[in-house]
Amino acid sequence: MIELIKAALAMGWPALGLLVALLFYFKFSISDPIANKRAVFKTFIGILGAILLFMAIANYKMNFFGESRLLPVSLVLITSMAFMMALYFANISALLRIGGFMFFIAAALSGYGNWLPQVEGGFPPIEEKKDFSNMPQTELADEGEKIIFGGVGQNKVQGAIGKGQCPLCHAFHKGMLGERAPNLDGLPERAGTQIEDARYHKGNPAARDFDQKEAFPGSGTAENAQEYIAESHSCPSCFVVTGYGVKGTNDKVSPMPAIHKPPISLSLPELAAVDTWLYVREGREAPSFDEIVKSYEKFIPESDRPKPPTEGDAKPGASALMADGTEPVDQIFAKGQCVACHTIPGIAGAMGTIGPKLVEGTNAPLRIKDKEYKGKAKSVPDYIMESIVEPSAYVVKGFPDNTMPKVFGQKLSAGALKKIVDYLSQVQEGKEPPKAS
Ligand code: HEC
Ligand code: HEC
Repeated sequence: MIELIKAALAMGWPALGLLVALLFYFKFSISDPIANKRAVFKTFIGILGAILLFMAIANYKMNFFGESRLLPVSLVLITSMAFMMALYFANISALLRIGGFMFFIAAALSGYGNWLPQVEGGFPPIEEKKDFSNMPQTELADEGEKIIFGGVGQNKVQGAIGKGQCPLCHAFHKGMLGERAPNLDGLPERAGTQIEDARYHKGNPAARDFDQKEAFPGSGTAENAQEYIAESHSCPSCFVVTGYGVKGTNDKVSPMPAIHKPPISLSLPELAAVDTWLYVREGREAPSFDEIVKSYEKFIPESDRPKPPTEGDAKPGASALMADGTEPVDQIFAKGQCVACHTIPGIAGAMGTIGPKLVEGTNAPLRIKDKEYKGKAKSVPDYIMESIVEPSAYVVKGFPDNTMPKVFGQKLSAGALKKIVDYLSQVQEGKEPPKAS
């Protein structure tokens, strides 16, 4: 497609040149003044049409904000074609002009809507409702891969991420980087040995030395590998893998969010799909759908189980973005998991220490002044935006590169990014933080 556009553009320049040359040729070669005027006018319109066509081709697929432009561009094309044909086919020109005018209005309206930067209320495809409970295992695994990575076959793609958000923290393949969280390669097998770990206290949750002893009073501990996986997802702080706890808590508190709770809120069938993928991708037989759901019912009380989305509340846009910008800023920080890695003054629960404390009103000017700063930002908001959309443009000293996820430019709407930037710009060391909601 891109190649095609490039070819069309390359051919467009000579065509335009030819038209301009013709214009001058007609202007000076035709002696009859009326015929002269007509020929010049027609070539002039031809040039205008060619320029329009140009712009249309250059922007055919996407506008600057990554939105589809098929509709307005097609309308513009039809409009200009109609007007041009009206010039050349005198006998039906009135008809063509009326038609062209109508298309012009339609194009103007839809083009206006489309060029606006805010995409709130756009119409991404609504997810079809599928019944996970009686799907063949391989299909259920595909659904799981979609939830984790955003698409089938995406599990090795750097930066691929779905609504489950696991790749923000976890690597899934041997040898892949995953300092923030355990690599989930080999999990189904490891799960069976984790519950034999002395710190796990299988069957005796009261003896545990973690922030949380049980998922809920009376839930008990996992008795088998699948239950361990279910417990890991629903009660991360019930057992914290050594070395991965929140800094300063001596591995008593897990930084992992409970997957069935907001903002991730996976339903039990969705969790079953995720787990099924974890087994199937290693060539293992997964427990049945019902068994997996039962393992979650052990650790998630009825009242805490998110309802699978129903037809009625399928919000357009809910699937593709982590935050669409309608939320208050504290929720945006939570939905983007910024809170897991950063301490953010004024944001409840944002106590992460994997990245710097986000006092950007104070930090950003220092970063830009740093001799080693190679980014493009000239102002505090520019710097914050750059740090989020392109984290490696400048790596804060003392913190690792390639740890801050590089997905936020795609996964947060323009509105959500703006709210983050506005908020962080106002946070200064030693000053009262701004209001979060
Ligand atoms: C904000 C970061 C973060 C996100 C997002 C996250 N995890 Fe975790 N996860 C961790 C950390 C850190 C640990 C290790 C501490 C612990 O045991 O809780 C962990 C532990 C686990 C474990 C136990 C691993 C073991 O070796 O025993 C499993 C299983 C797991 N996560 C699965 C998932 C899945 C599936 C998702 C997505 C649906 C997910 N996690 C999302 C950070 C995260
Ligand atoms: C998995 C951990 C992680 C997550 C999640 C994360 N960050 Fe970061 N962030 C880092 C690390 C590590 C750095 C420092 C290294 C660097 O500059 O890239 C950083 C740097 C930054 C900086 C530059 C700070 C400075 O003082 O110069 C900003 C701003 C920032 N992050 C904002 C965010 C926002 C907003 C989110 C959520 C949308 C987020 N981060 C999510 C780990 C994370």
